[in-house]
Amino acid sequence: TKAEAWSALFSEPMSDLVKRYTSSVFFDKRMWQADIQGSLAHAEMLSAQKIIAAEDFAAIQKGMAQITAEIEAGSFDWKLDLEDVHLNIEARLTQLVGDAGKRLHTGRSRNDQVATDVRLWLRGEIDLIEGLLVELQRSLVEVAGKNVDVILPGFTHLQVAQPVSFAHHLLAYVEMFKRDAERMLDVRKRVNVLPLGSAALAGTTYPLDRERVARTLGMEGVSQNSLDGVSDRDFAIEFTAAASLCMVHISRLSEELIIWMSQNFGFIRIADRFTTGSSIMPQKKNPDVPELARGKTGRVVGHLMGLITLMKGQPLAYNKDNQEDKEPLFDTVDTLKDTLRIFAEMIGGQVNPATGAKEGGITVNAGNMRAAALKGYATATDLADYLVKKGLPFRDAHETVAHAVKLATQKGVDLTELPLAELQAFNPNIEADVFDALSLEGSLNARNTLGGTAPVQVRAQLAKHQARLG
Ligand code: ARG
Repeated sequence: TKAEAWSALFSEPMSDLVKRYTSSVFFDKRMWQADIQGSLAHAEMLSAQKIIAAEDFAAIQKGMAQITAEIEAGSFDWKLDLEDVHLNIEARLTQLVGDAGKRLHTGRSRNDQVATDVRLWLRGEIDLIEGLLVELQRSLVEVAGKNVDVILPGFTHLQVAQPVSFAHHLLAYVEMFKRDAERMLDVRKRVNVLPLGSAALAGTTYPLDRERVARTLGMEGVSQNSLDGVSDRDFAIEFTAAASLCMVHISRLSEELIIWMSQNFGFIRIADRFTTGSSIMPQKKNPDVPELARGKTGRVVGHLMGLITLMKGQPLAYNKDNQEDKEPLFDTVDTLKDTLRIFAEMIGGQVNPATGAKEGGITVNAGNMRAAALKGYATATDLADYLVKKGLPFRDAHETVAHAVKLATQKGVDLTELPLAELQAFNPNIEADVFDALSLEGSLNARNTLGGTAPVQVRAQLAKHQARLG
């Protein structure tokens, strides 16, 4: 019974409901590797400091090797009665190696143990996420590389604004995911700090060498205040905030993919394996994956709210509230990793082992994009800029072009379809070269500032990303 797990102080057993309510083992067991890694580093230090005997450390190592094998084989008997991953592993260790197992917890509390485990576990996950963010950027850069000269309408307010290169549009997302990767690396610095040695809250009476444990675990520093060490979950909140922002980027991209693949746009298609049909409408292919990703963004942002609220009323130091940090954190990691993996493949395709080439990424319909860019007077600004170069103040040019657009709208034609004479009626300085300025290519080429959509600029950005991503 649980009473036996603590001490003789407890006079009655827990009800099954309370046991289930307070236990975390069925979700925190996923940190078992971190728990064992942390325990071994602690035991090694205890032995080096002569707090436990070298034989005890050897026995602990042996026991942990056996436990590792049992967990990997699926034969480890996780017990609800033993509350969490920490007590389950320690109890099994003692069963296997006797008194040495009972000595492991010297100078340690579950409070600093769990904080250490979460940090070790999350550090490993951040490294995986970092790799997935690189893969997603590579996919976007690959597709961008093939679409520099493909032109689509750029929008503001979802109204046709100015034509842009499709590659330029995709590289905007590369910038977002690049920042996400940088944010993850920054969070990692504060995740990778060792709280072990804080003990329950006040430090410990044993001569621990905390720096040694940090080195063994590859941690960059040691927490400097024991109360903060056991109660700080800032790192989990920061991580979830970075993950939320990354999901927001995914969600914006999803929204665009969904719009682009609607019949009314017809800009792209995604492979059938990322879509589903309808049970009633035989013609349907719905963009379920981008829609779900957009939906799951709400779930991750919800976890951020959950975690930040979890901390707001807690006095120092450890409180059991903190056990509630795990499910939101775990689900954030799972959701983000799956989403990044799926998006890298949905956009860039996957390698066909027979040919070595990537297949099944998004299909671009350049004709539809171009046709859409030719509607909606996307190059009206170019006509204004043309007049400015002829000496007109910009505000006057803006007004003149508005009249030209009004006339073209009335006639149901594009600006380029107005005869030169009609354009000249708006301003006598307009000459035949205006039609170059009003073309989609002319419009793009003219935006030749750093970060602009001119193909030379886009190619320069592509080259930078390719060099960075290898
Ligand atoms: N399962 C607990 C958690 O997740 C471990 C620490 C419990 N410490 C305690 N004194 N009850 O936070």
